[in-house]
Amino acid sequence: MNIMEEIKVNIANMIYKAIDNNQITLDEIKEKIEVPKDKNNGDFSYPCFNLAKVLRNSPVNIANSIKDNIITDNSISKVEVVNGFLNFYLNSDNIASEVLKKIVEEKENYGSTKEGEGVNIIVEYSSPNIAKPFHLGHFRNTVLGKALYDLYETLGYNVTGINHLGDWGRQFGILIEGYRRFKDEYNFDKNPLEALSDIYVRINKIAKEDDAVMDKARENFKKLEQGDEELTKLWKYFRDISLKEYKRIYDILGSKFDSYNGEAFYNDKMEEVIEILDKKGVLKDSQGAKVVEVGNNMPPCIVLKSNGSTIYATRDLAAILYRARTYDFTKCIYVTATEQILHFKQIFEVAKYLVDEKYQKGLVHVAYGMIRLKTGKMSTREGNVIYIDELIKEAIQKAKDIMTAKNPNLENIDEVSKKIGLGALIFNYLKSGKNKDIIFDLDDTLRFDGETGPYIQYTYVRTKSILEKVGFNIEDISSDSIDYTLLKEKQEVELIKELEKFESIIRKAANEYEPSVLARYLIDVATAFSRFYNECSVANIDDENLKKARCVLVYATSIVIKKGLSILGIDSPEKM
Ligand code: ARG
Repeated sequence: MNIMEEIKVNIANMIYKAIDNNQITLDEIKEKIEVPKDKNNGDFSYPCFNLAKVLRNSPVNIANSIKDNIITDNSISKVEVVNGFLNFYLNSDNIASEVLKKIVEEKENYGSTKEGEGVNIIVEYSSPNIAKPFHLGHFRNTVLGKALYDLYETLGYNVTGINHLGDWGRQFGILIEGYRRFKDEYNFDKNPLEALSDIYVRINKIAKEDDAVMDKARENFKKLEQGDEELTKLWKYFRDISLKEYKRIYDILGSKFDSYNGEAFYNDKMEEVIEILDKKGVLKDSQGAKVVEVGNNMPPCIVLKSNGSTIYATRDLAAILYRARTYDFTKCIYVTATEQILHFKQIFEVAKYLVDEKYQKGLVHVAYGMIRLKTGKMSTREGNVIYIDELIKEAIQKAKDIMTAKNPNLENIDEVSKKIGLGALIFNYLKSGKNKDIIFDLDDTLRFDGETGPYIQYTYVRTKSILEKVGFNIEDISSDSIDYTLLKEKQEVELIKELEKFESIIRKAANEYEPSVLARYLIDVATAFSRFYNECSVANIDDENLKKARCVLVYATSIVIKKGLSILGIDSPEKM
């Protein structure tokens, strides 16, 4: 439990004792305690309106009588009655020392918990369709998934990252056909994935107009499904080429995958799904296809097409069954674009016929919005795809230009520019709520003075350089020797209160599948730090005790920013 949570429980206890009426439980009180929006109304507030009926008195009178009877400890500095509210003001000396002691003690572990121990969570993310290049949409998916992975891991959950590759389906029949026809026109040593995707676009166009080609493609896929040796070899080759490219990007982004079992993996696991559905009597005929009804608000879920072949959804159903058995998951989270909302609603419905309720209830679809470039719409099929490689390169180059102008003597300028360029991209994606569409503008993401990755990274660098200037080393101090009660300035207290929130922010971000909660929080921390540093000198003060206490505060800020960024997938340079 974090400090504020503890204080809240403590306040609930005090109120409970002051009311002393057995019709009102401690839990009821705890639930009603809130954090006022306006800081002038205290740190916690308890509305007395719901007590009026039970206690047969007006909320104002009740609030006043609680105030008269309450016995507070030294964590509370003041209790006030405003209308029907009881407002509690915390003793900032007390919070300061509790928060900072905790950070000094736990260091890089501050913010981590063990609450998820023994609970299995699957985060399925990225999942590109092989033989196609990685574009902006995949990038959003991948940074979102990796952040969710790390959020859960920080809370102690046992997380499995799965990349459900789109490596099966009729398009491979088409691709094989194209490869046979055009392979000699391409240099597969140089940029194999680009060659493959180009071939795919070309042959797809032809197949759409020429039935004979489409028939050939179907035949290819049929053979592939049946395990034809030559075609399997080709398919593996395509998959290897693609995966090699993707893995290069995953390395850059710090993505974690424990499994690359994609759609093909389920080729031999779908029969059982059909059997189960059939046995349960939910498989219906519909114009030759086999479907499962999923309620009145949605079209039925097709599991077998009229020619008897399986589809995307069938493989997803097989995956749910497999994952329940293999990973015994409490949650299985799917990260995809909003276009697939209906698909997941359908298969989650059908899943109730396949797995225990506890698994079915644990299926979660995390959908994210579109990405548009400042000019025009981004699309996979129409030519104006921005390949992620180019984008990353451009971002790093721009970061380098900025750094060369700002700090020409910077050591390791390439390494630092890489962290800044990538950090800018990732932060830009994660600071918007997942449902929001993003209008992407590279120059904006790289600004050092806005709500950007570089701004947060720069704040971290400032904390480091302050500590370096003072010659402060956390290893040299014992937390007991610090007098935290000296940190009394408004800006100091505000910053400490921000740092205190870290753990609950991580929990909220995970619970809401929303890394933006953490990203926005880091902006708040950086802003609170700037305010503090504008008002409170650290290096140039005579009072050695105050200097030490402020150094600890700066150190604590550096810990929270670095760890927060790292959960989002962003490295913090030590200098910039
Ligand atoms: N390969 C799909 C695509 O690129 C995404 C897969 C999502 N995951 C799933 N289990 N269906 O659209």
